[in-house]
Amino acid sequence: MSIFVKTGVIGHPVNHSRSPRIHNFWIEKHQLDGAYEAIDCAPSDLAGTIKRLVDSGYRGFNVTLPHKETIMKLCDTVDLNAQNIGAVNTVVITEGKIRGLNTDGFGFLANIYESEPGYTFDYKCAVVLGAGGAARAVVSALIGEQIEKILLLNRTRANAQILADEMNMGTGIIEVRDWDERSEVLKGADMLVNTTSLGMTGQPPLEIDLQALSANALVNDIVYAPLETPLLKQARAHGAQAIDGMGMLLHQARPAFNEWFGVIPDVTEELRALVLK
Ligand code: ATR
Repeated sequence: MSIFVKTGVIGHPVNHSRSPRIHNFWIEKHQLDGAYEAIDCAPSDLAGTIKRLVDSGYRGFNVTLPHKETIMKLCDTVDLNAQNIGAVNTVVITEGKIRGLNTDGFGFLANIYESEPGYTFDYKCAVVLGAGGAARAVVSALIGEQIEKILLLNRTRANAQILADEMNMGTGIIEVRDWDERSEVLKGADMLVNTTSLGMTGQPPLEIDLQALSANALVNDIVYAPLETPLLKQARAHGAQAIDGMGMLLHQARPAFNEWFGVIPDVTEELRALVLK
């Protein structure tokens, strides 16, 4: 008899999360015996919620805002990659022990490779906008792929400097620049990644001039609502390769699903359409 696998996502608020659609789609697709639910958890109730999930036999869960950092100290072990990023987005429970991992960097890279098969990062320069949790996952992934240079720009320069100091580890790969230089630094860049919330529905657009950017450059917006952000529209008009953020959302879910269900699921057009609905 197969065991019913209980999984879910904890967050606050959590009802906006698209993860239940993604994971329940795969559970059905692979005819697995399990479920994935959205679990609202206030910050003051984090330890209690985790205990309840462990005690009721959950296999694991995703972690979203505002718990991605605070959950780290409640994990028994945290994978190196999640330690480097400083955030956990996935938890695996084995014999009552909690392991934290982070699949956002995987999602970011898989999205790029899906759009540009065989893409290589060595000898390349990326301009990364933002210095929050998403930026940390992106920067960590780029360094892991042996990128040569990352120009990091953030509205609050000090936050970019903290990220650079933590992740450079003496290499000097990450160079911090002023937010006001965001259009000029594109000269000679191979890739532009927006990890800020600018351009998201309800947020102001990202104001940037892409003129200095090479027409063979990649422009990736990790914002996925709307799918076609003003930045991506501008990138397409410029002739650059525009990559939307939906792929990162979908691909980051794959390693988590594999940890819980032992199946590596696919990102398909059917799934994309379902999540976009
Ligand atoms: P996430 O975990 O999704 O990365 P976050 O940690 O809240 O979210 O980070 C949001 C990022 O968007 C930050 O880099 C933030 O810049 P600050 O460090 O200056 O706050 C950036 N951001 C948010 N609103 C912005 C705005 N109006 N203009 C420029 N950058 C903005």
